[in-house]
Amino acid sequence: SCYFPMLSYRVILLKLLEQSTLTLLSEVLHPPQELNSMPRIGDIAPDFEAITTKGPIKMSEFAKDKWIVMFSHPADFTPVCTTEMSGFAERKEEFDALNTELLGLSIDSIHAHLGWVQNVREATGVYFDFPIIADIDMKVSKLYGMLQPNESETAAVRAVFFIDPSKKIRLIMYYPLNVGRNMNEILRALEALQVSDKHKVALPLDWKKGDKVICPAPKSLNDLNTRLADHSVEKVTWYLAKKNI
Ligand code: BEZ
Repeated sequence: SCYFPMLSYRVILLKLLEQSTLTLLSEVLHPPQELNSMPRIGDIAPDFEAITTKGPIKMSEFAKDKWIVMFSHPADFTPVCTTEMSGFAERKEEFDALNTELLGLSIDSIHAHLGWVQNVREATGVYFDFPIIADIDMKVSKLYGMLQPNESETAAVRAVFFIDPSKKIRLIMYYPLNVGRNMNEILRALEALQVSDKHKVALPLDWKKGDKVICPAPKSLNDLNTRLADHSVEKVTWYLAKKNI
């Protein structure tokens, strides 16, 4: 009399196991791609089309031969975001001088963006004169790993992507919701990337424009002997030398 109930438990158990194995298998084979998407340094920036405060854009055609600093903020009409966005706006000329386009983003509607831009302009005189993506469907946030569910399931974290003219991602910053970024560091890092590319050098701790740069370390004894005989560079030791550019 116990046999049939036992059998049905076993059948149910097997069915459950089968189901969970299938679910697991399906998640491994088809991960929820958008949420898992975390572009890395050196990747080509994933392309997308979006509605912005300056009209529709396609990322791959945006900013042609320029650098792009693409940054997300959690929400319009919030205090920290207002200080950050105003910081980008107030220093836009410095980004222009570095051949760089700004591109903002938040998971808000275009109407919220327009209302916020106008509200800040009325309240402070600062005008956000660069495109801000209205990522209401979270498409771009998910594509760029800006939506980090353990921080917030609905608001993008404070991300900054530095994208070079070949559309390669060169530097990524992620800040949480409650800590604003440092505009001096964003500009310093952008300039450092450009100087490093132009002069094929590396840059030391806290490097800023005008400071000496790092000479590439010797790769052979010949290089080493040349380095030791070169009195034009500041040698801390044989593998750490600095020079002016
Ligand atoms: C802010 O910008 O003030 C903010 C936005 C989202 C969460 C916390 C702070």
